[in-house]
Amino acid sequence: MKNTVTYSALVLAFFVVFTCFPFTIARQNPASTHADNARRVFYYSDELGSSGEFDSVPSSLTFDNSRLKNAYVALQAWKQAVVSDPLNLTSNWVGSNVCNYTGVFCSPAPDDPAIETVAGIDLNHGDIAGTLPDELGLLNDISLFHVNSNRFCGKLPWSLKEMKYLYELDVSNNRFAGKFPYVVLRMPTLRYLDLRFNEFEGKVPKALFEKNLDAIFMNHNRFTFELPDNIGNSPASVIVLDNNKFRGCLPASMGNMSNTLHELILSDNGLHSCLPEEIGSLKNLQVFDSLEQLDLSHNMLSGTVPEYLCSMPNLQKFSYNHNFFHGESQMCLDLEEYDDGKNCFHGVGRPVQRSRLQCKMFLSKPVNCSVFKCHQLVPPKPNPPPPSPKPKPALPPPPPSPQHPLSPPPLPPCQQLQSPPPPSPMDYNPLPPINGRKL
Ligand SMILES: *[C@@H]1O[C@H](CO)[C@@H](O)[C@H](O)[C@H]1NC(C)=O
Ligand SMILES: *[C@@H]1O[C@H](CO)[C@@H](O)[C@H](O)[C@H]1NC(C)=O
Ligand SMILES: *[C@@H]1O[C@H](CO)[C@@H](O)[C@H](O)[C@H]1NC(C)=O
Ligand SMILES: *[C@@H]1O[C@H](CO)[C@@H](O)[C@H](O)[C@H]1NC(C)=O
Repeated sequence: MKNTVTYSALVLAFFVVFTCFPFTIARQNPASTHADNARRVFYYSDELGSSGEFDSVPSSLTFDNSRLKNAYVALQAWKQAVVSDPLNLTSNWVGSNVCNYTGVFCSPAPDDPAIETVAGIDLNHGDIAGTLPDELGLLNDISLFHVNSNRFCGKLPWSLKEMKYLYELDVSNNRFAGKFPYVVLRMPTLRYLDLRFNEFEGKVPKALFEKNLDAIFMNHNRFTFELPDNIGNSPASVIVLDNNKFRGCLPASMGNMSNTLHELILSDNGLHSCLPEEIGSLKNLQVFDSLEQLDLSHNMLSGTVPEYLCSMPNLQKFSYNHNFFHGESQMCLDLEEYDDGKNCFHGVGRPVQRSRLQCKMFLSKPVNCSVFKCHQLVPPKPNPPPPSPKPKPALPPPPPSPQHPLSPPPLPPCQQLQSPPPPSPMDYNPLPPINGRKL
């Protein structure tokens, strides 16, 4: 009898793990009580503060300090949530010496240099399939969490908000799905956010662009939203949003572009609007001073490519190929590097363009740029306030997700058996370690 109960609990536990059933939902589901009991050994509760239940830790194990013990609980729970690990990266995740586990890095605690604590996770290119369990919130001293190019699915647990020193979060090239991971807004020191090549969908919160991030990578997901007015407020140097379904008007969003942006990639979004030609008195704007690379290619932009874009003083590379532009300033052709192919420029000596028929068909519904109701560029204030800490907007808990009419059909349970998709995200030089913590 006891064996039967244990067995069914195990089966249910596996069901929870294998199907990426969000644990929080599972807990509200009366049918999952057995699964709860099975998982109780590793249960970690936010509400109880950081005091999880540690009955899972064998009494024979000794730890140098309680943080390493917490890390043990987190990593063992994670190991249990792994369903495929072809490179055997987690196979040495046994015993109390968590600092020796593959992919786990320790250093002195940021608030107490006298003790060692887990400072980083690096399982990049691990090809691991599984989920991220709630217990990962126990790794609350880490500054790096790198799991790119694995097959993790489900969502980022809300408990990750406990990572109050997290500086770099790279979950790119995995199978994460669902709405934008609002938990990243709760990470006070986050500077590098990489969500690209996943299946995230729906809206992106405006608050993201008020956060003190240096890099925002969200390309190759299923986000659908209007480019928010405040995108230019972001102090990031790189914002990459391509291959999603953004809508809206670029110009209004760029009006008060921060002076730190070097690279803005908005290609492949089906952006259907115009870039206003007339910016009148804003000719000497210095807003775009820092921009070096701008990619608007593979959208449905039409009208004329305005001079003010091509005359940005530091612009080196401007791609606007695969749109329906029919006019461009000579300054665009003087740029160091530009791509204007597959548009509707049919003058002499133009590079490969769309066929006249294709252009005629697209333009046969006359493009009236004012119907897009794009706002005029708004100049930034002449003397921007010093980069004092911006007032942190109160972050509401993630809103109950309304069924978005455009949302894709729910994903089937994680398909852990396939290898990760071939397009490997481009490499990005990691930012220097913070607080002098060397990993
Ligand atoms: C992982 O471990 C399994 C079982 O011990 C072994 O068969 C396999 O060759 C190992 N794979 C690698 C990449 O080391
Ligand atoms: C940790 O790993 C190193 C190298 O693999 C080994 O020399 C050391 O003994 C290990 N420490 C413990 C406590 O297992
Ligand atoms: C940024 O521009 C938008 C519209 O272009 C405007 O509504 C907003 O007030 C501007 N923000 C700042 C800080 O100037
Ligand atoms: C363009 O659209 C605006 C707003 O919808 C309208 O007022 C205007 O008359 C249109 N212009 C042309 C040339 O159709």
